[in-house]
Amino acid sequence: MKKIISSAPGKAILFGEHAVVYGYPAIAIALSIRSKCIIEENTERNIQIFLENYNQRIKAPDFYRLEKKIPSKFNQLVTGLKLLQQKYDLNYSSLSFCFNTQLFPSSGLGSSASIAVAFIYGLNEYFGLGLSKDEINNLAYEMERIIHGTPSGIDNTICTFGNLIYYKGGEFQFIEVDTELPLLIIYSNIEHDTKEAINRIRRFKNTEPERANSYLKSIGKITNKAKNHLQQGNLDEIGDLMNKNQANLSSLHVSNQTISEITNFCLENGAKGSKLTGAGLGGCVISLGDLKILKNISQQLEANGFKSFLANIDKQGVRIE
Ligand code: MEV
Repeated sequence: MKKIISSAPGKAILFGEHAVVYGYPAIAIALSIRSKCIIEENTERNIQIFLENYNQRIKAPDFYRLEKKIPSKFNQLVTGLKLLQQKYDLNYSSLSFCFNTQLFPSSGLGSSASIAVAFIYGLNEYFGLGLSKDEINNLAYEMERIIHGTPSGIDNTICTFGNLIYYKGGEFQFIEVDTELPLLIIYSNIEHDTKEAINRIRRFKNTEPERANSYLKSIGKITNKAKNHLQQGNLDEIGDLMNKNQANLSSLHVSNQTISEITNFCLENGAKGSKLTGAGLGGCVISLGDLKILKNISQQLEANGFKSFLANIDKQGVRIE
């Protein structure tokens, strides 16, 4: 029986979140932590979708009925199936699709994009469609729109191609990095709140435009400096810039006490840099440092109830396992 396993990396914003909303640049990194999609035939002669992380399974005799009974959590996946079916007249009966991710869901690590990219890539392989990575990326973007409205496209792009992306005003540019970038990604145990975080900065800009704009401008400068240091592999400088970026995010009121406690703990224990990643007000903290030091920090955080994982740059993007 035919079986395809595809996987795609997650992502984190390394520099520039929020400032990017106001036209400044941001840098995103593909993380060596992946989401997987397994496509195989089943003997029940129906269509099955299984989300392992949620232990949720749905079965339907055909695509039409699958679409009717699907819970909203699966909408993105049905969109992917539909897009390809319309284009290539595919038959999904007797196919099982199983998904799992090592990423913390709903925490700004691009789990939905990495699942979408792995899914389209897996279908491409299973049916021998011969799609290019650009086409995979575009289809995954259509799936992302179902969940996120009009996303920037950064998540699906980085999950498809891997590496680091510098983006500004809708333009993407890959950054070549030769060194390892050992990172620890820590979940703050609080869901991130993108809407509230963006609104906070908007309110701040309305009431104190000069102060708010100076913090955003400063983040823009930090991101540009970081781009150069990433290209040169200067880890100490990158860590220092992460701390400066965090200080500005904190001044913009999108950090919180738990995030500060985690970043301080990481720095006190030898990390080179530590900051929130993504929207803030929860979500994840990203710390840079020597692998051994990060391992030690991870163990100590675990003992204090904070889950984390070690990661590095993923240079491959989506792949078949
Ligand atoms: C959220 O992951 C990143 C923000 O900069 C929002 C955005 O860029 O759309 C906070």
